[in-house]
Amino acid sequence: MSLLSQEYWKELAVKQQELKEKISADDWRLTYHLMPETGWMNDPNGVCQFKGVYHFYHQYVPGNALGGEPPHWGHKTSTDLVHFKEEEIFLSPEHDYERNGVYSGSAFVKEDELHFFYTGNVKKIGDYDYTYSGREQNTVHVISKDGFTIDYQEVVIPHAAYPEGFTDHIRDPKVFEKNGRYYMILGGRTRDNEGKILLYRSQDLTNWTYCGNLFGDDHSLGYMWECPDLFECGETAVLIFSPQGLQAKELEYHNVYQAGYIVGEMDWNKEKFSPKSAFIELDRGFDFYAPQTFEDESGRRILWGWMGIGDTKPEYTNPTITKGWQHAATMPRELIVEAGKLKQLPLSEYESLRQEKVNFDLTLDGEFSTSALQGEVYELLIEDIQLEDGFSMLLRQDTRITYHEQVFTLTHGPSGYGRKQRSIALPSLKKLQLFMDTSSIEIFLNDGEYVMTSRVFPDKGKEKVILKGYGKLKVTKWSLKPITE
Ligand code: FRU
Repeated sequence: MSLLSQEYWKELAVKQQELKEKISADDWRLTYHLMPETGWMNDPNGVCQFKGVYHFYHQYVPGNALGGEPPHWGHKTSTDLVHFKEEEIFLSPEHDYERNGVYSGSAFVKEDELHFFYTGNVKKIGDYDYTYSGREQNTVHVISKDGFTIDYQEVVIPHAAYPEGFTDHIRDPKVFEKNGRYYMILGGRTRDNEGKILLYRSQDLTNWTYCGNLFGDDHSLGYMWECPDLFECGETAVLIFSPQGLQAKELEYHNVYQAGYIVGEMDWNKEKFSPKSAFIELDRGFDFYAPQTFEDESGRRILWGWMGIGDTKPEYTNPTITKGWQHAATMPRELIVEAGKLKQLPLSEYESLRQEKVNFDLTLDGEFSTSALQGEVYELLIEDIQLEDGFSMLLRQDTRITYHEQVFTLTHGPSGYGRKQRSIALPSLKKLQLFMDTSSIEIFLNDGEYVMTSRVFPDKGKEKVILKGYGKLKVTKWSLKPITE
């Protein structure tokens, strides 16, 4: 029997209806990004392609734009990765082992079945701190033959079976197959407040054996690691995770929590990961966390991030809360590994949204502005950049991009709602690809060397584009059509 009564679903439908009315009057609804239909969205979950269809599940609190209440898994599907259909909620906190939330997890495609693994979050009633005691995070396995209905659902690693030395925070399973064995990685926080990745192995996806810490040595960074993901590209292994508790270091790690990767090698005999790089942030803007990747049927490695982070207050916030919704997913990105380095590219499918095109071969001699470059929802490509000195660009209402003395900076004014400045040390600026939506900006630098993602909430009609600098550049702008047409 489900813990969620008919009354619960009726009340939720009423709340959603109220939220939909506010949402319909909101100019900041995005036009080509995935958003919660109502309420709150966080991590992408279970992203996959199954029998030709792309599935995007996500952490979802449909009745409350502030989140907080036990999350469900929302669900959207697509056949082209651009246009998505809103589906019924896939998972809900219906059982005792997940009573406080169907937390994050992944999908694993095996022949004719989809296997999902997620964390069932439980908070015992009482006087607990919920870090060192009072919480259970069970690993749950779901089998589905179509991605819409559940054929089997069981706890495969109950909280009590996790190894000694950890706090109650162990979650976000990601499952994959290697050399005929199944592996699962989970993020955790030790009792000494170190972030770790737990590795499990299985022959049947049901019985899981703990193989230790994914890093043989004591590699640690911050107090908790969320949402681990691991994939290989030839000999190179890329380990993605979202650590909490990092100290800002020069221009890096300025957000409340980070999301990034370490490039390394996997020794599958020893079942250990050897890092070959430092921890590198995947995105240097204000709104990016808990990314998840999958390999599509054509063999591409695709990543979606949560275009948001928890706990950003008091530094910054999202005014859409009063409009009935909060947060979105980033555009999907293609990941490639080149000479041991990870690059992130906008998916080529998004070129299908391009409409009117304008382009200029510009010789900048001070300030340049033309109404042809203005807009609200558009892609801007700046190539063949040969600057004599610094360069700056004012966008929308008060967002500024500057490149000066080998530092690339994104600065928001009041329309950033508290977001101020993030910078990257960049020896040379060769190419800039910018995706603007009604309330978001995604900047790809030098063919995916860096990405910066940010929410921004300009007033309607404030659509400036002013370039300043000295030198030559080629500018192309396309307006982008909405995916809801
Ligand atoms: C990351 C996270 C995950 C957890 C989920 C709960 O944003 O905290 O670790 O499973 O969100 O919504």
